[in-house]
Amino acid sequence: MLGFVMTTIVVIGGTGLIGSKLVAQLSEQGNEVIAASPDSGVNTLTGDGLAEVLTDAQVVVDVSNSPSFEEREVLDFFTTSTTNLLAATTAAGVGHYVALSVVGTDRLAESPYFRAKIAQERLITESGAAYSIVHATQFFEFVRSIANSATVDGVVHAAPALIQPIAADEVAAAVARTATGEPSHGIVEVAGPEQFGLDELISKSLTLDGDPRRVVTDPQARYFGAVLQERTLIPGTGALIFPTRFDDWATRPSS
Ligand SMILES: NC(=O)c1ccc[n+]([C@@H]2O[C@H](COP(=O)([O-])OP(=O)(O)OC[C@H]3O[C@@H](n4cnc5c(N)ncnc54)[C@H](OP(=O)(O)O)[C@@H]3O)[C@@H](O)[C@H]2O)c1
Repeated sequence: MLGFVMTTIVVIGGTGLIGSKLVAQLSEQGNEVIAASPDSGVNTLTGDGLAEVLTDAQVVVDVSNSPSFEEREVLDFFTTSTTNLLAATTAAGVGHYVALSVVGTDRLAESPYFRAKIAQERLITESGAAYSIVHATQFFEFVRSIANSATVDGVVHAAPALIQPIAADEVAAAVARTATGEPSHGIVEVAGPEQFGLDELISKSLTLDGDPRRVVTDPQARYFGAVLQERTLIPGTGALIFPTRFDDWATRPSS
C-alpha cells in the first residue's frame, strides 16, 4: 500500500519573523514541522538540543539571526552556529540543509554583518552537505530598522542606491518551496516587484508611520557599514519576483 510520507522539517529560528511564517506555511502544506529556538531548548551557539531535535529530520532550515550586529558577536554567531548546525546535520543524516541569506551579500564585504553572512555561506558551500541557499532582498518589515541604523542626531542618512524589497510572507513562501524541493547546491534569489531609491523608500516608510525624521540623500551614507553602488542590493535577471507591492502591504488593513 502506498502511504503519504510526511517530511519532517526542523526550522532553526522558528520563532523569528521569517521562521514563524515559514513554520505556519510548511505545516499548512502537511509537513511535520519543528520550530527550534533557544526557548524550545535548541541553541545553535552552544549546541544544546541540536542532536535531539534533528533525530528524525529530513530537512533543516536555518532562518536564525544574530541578536547582536556588533562585529565580533555577529561573526561569532554565524560561524559558531553554522559550524555546530552543519556537524549535527551530518551526524543525524539530514538530507537537505537550507539557509536564508541576503541578495548582494558577496558585494557587501565592507559591512561586519555581511562579512559574517559571507562566512556562514562559505561554511555551508564548503561543507559537503546537500544544500540550498535562498537570497532574499530586504523585507518590507525591515525598512524601519534600516532607517534606525542610518539615523544620526535625528536625521536619516541614506544613499540613492536601488532597493527591491519583498514582503516577509513571500520570503517564507520562497523558503518553504526550497525546503520541500531537491537540494540545488546553489543560490536562488527572490525579490519584490518594484525598485525604489533607498532614500525614497525610507522617506515613504517614515511618512506612512507618521515619523517626523528627515531623510538626507548621501551617496556615501553607509548601509550597515558598507557604501552602496547603484545596484549592490538588486538581484540578477534570474530572480524569482513575488507580486506584493510596498504600498499595498503598508496600507493593508492588518498593518
Ligand atoms: N532583514 C532582512 O531584510 C533580510 C533580508 C534577507 C535575508 N535576511 C536573513 O533572514 C534571516 C532571518 O531573519 P529574521 O528577521 O526572520 O530574524 P529574527 O526575526 O531576528 O529571528 C531570529 C531567530 O533566530 C533565533 N535565534 C537567535 N539566537 C539563536 C540561537 N543561539 N540558537 C537558535 N536560534 C537562535 C531567534 O530565537 P528567539 O525567538 O529566542 O530570539 C529567532 O527565532 C537572517 O539570517 C537574515 O540574514 C534578512
